[in-house]
Amino acid sequence: MTDLADRWGIHPAQSWLRGEDPARPVEFDEKSGMWNVYGHEEACQVLADAKTYSSAHVQDLFPVQADRSLREGNLLDLDPPDHRKLRNLVSKAFSGKVVADLEPRVTALTHELLDQVDPDGFELVSALAYPLPVIVIAELLGLPASDRELFREWVDKLFAQNNEFSLNDSPEKMAEDFAEVSAGLLPLQDYLREHITARRRSPGDDLISGLVQAEVDGQRLNDNEVVNFSMVLLVAGHITTTMLLGNTTLCLDAHPAQRERVRADRSLVPVAIEESLRFFTPFAALARATTTPVTLGGQDIPADQLLMVWLGAANRDGRRFADPHLFDAGRDPNPHLGFGRGIHFCVGAPLARLEGRVAVNALLDRFPGLHVDPDQAPTFMPSPAMTGVKTLPLRV
Ligand code: HEM
Repeated sequence: MTDLADRWGIHPAQSWLRGEDPARPVEFDEKSGMWNVYGHEEACQVLADAKTYSSAHVQDLFPVQADRSLREGNLLDLDPPDHRKLRNLVSKAFSGKVVADLEPRVTALTHELLDQVDPDGFELVSALAYPLPVIVIAELLGLPASDRELFREWVDKLFAQNNEFSLNDSPEKMAEDFAEVSAGLLPLQDYLREHITARRRSPGDDLISGLVQAEVDGQRLNDNEVVNFSMVLLVAGHITTTMLLGNTTLCLDAHPAQRERVRADRSLVPVAIEESLRFFTPFAALARATTTPVTLGGQDIPADQLLMVWLGAANRDGRRFADPHLFDAGRDPNPHLGFGRGIHFCVGAPLARLEGRVAVNALLDRFPGLHVDPDQAPTFMPSPAMTGVKTLPLRV
């Protein structure tokens, strides 16, 4: 599998996917001006302590500030106590029980999508891995799922760059990059704003209606907050799950003995999905900023430093996982960090797990001879902060 990372052109910065272990669990990167955290234990330390390692403070460290209107209501950018107040608004909507009730809809949708594929072969991402999670999250938010090609256009642009961000970039370059991101988000924000205005006038029983009516400390959220909150749910709700479905299919294809083991014992499907999250971590890096001087992984880090927590590398840490570069569909326990840790732990994890389990079972049931097309290599997301299949041509 390690030589496959090269063959498929996975971003060279992700050296752990090539079986290389980082020299140190934490190190300063002169080129980017940031600290890289690679170790599992060190990543857990960072994610467990939101006071010392802040999410909200990250933006303050950029010499150029992103447009404030883009940040309001973005759960990922908040620290306690604001974070908890906003998170409470949605955590019930994604609880285990609510998500379990979605299973019949997720199953029906999966089969509807697979009914439409070419019986000789198909591209997994367009056929299933993209539409399934995007339709589910659009329906939960109360957006027309038929607009999904529009979302794809807008979101694809956001993640099309493979630029490696650096604090040493000139303020002009940084301002240009931020302006490009803001401009890219504008059509999606305008689209959400229209739906939000409509929902303020006539609420339904969807998540956007819930957000426009919700009160935090006796106050309604403003339009920007609802726009950004729903944007995070829409984007986080599909892009990573799309990668998870593609990556799991690819991992099982690259390990035929494991695939047959899972096919024969379906209780292993959820276990194999967790291993896929460890082995090919879709959301591979998280940013945090120090609020005070700390010692981490033997390194003294001053206050106001930017840290990149490489979940993908932590998930290959030999101090935590036996045979870290081996894909083991039965790995248990598997304390991977694919959904993060601590207060920002992925709110959508139960939904992503459900979609993964239903999709993998359906593919195993319906296509016993399914394999990666030997004539068309898969392609991958270009950013080093993401590890995931972008296209995956399959033969039936
Ligand atoms: C947070 C990964 C699916 C919504 C996170 C975080 C990770 C992650 C690593 C932590 C971010 C941080 O600490 O800064 C993933 C992966 C997924 C997935 C790998 C699929 C395989 C979903 C889905 C939804 C979702 C389906 C939506 C329903 C969110 C939200 C947060 C989040 C709203 C922010 C939570 C907070 O800040 O409190 N996700 N996610 N994710 N995820 Fe997911």
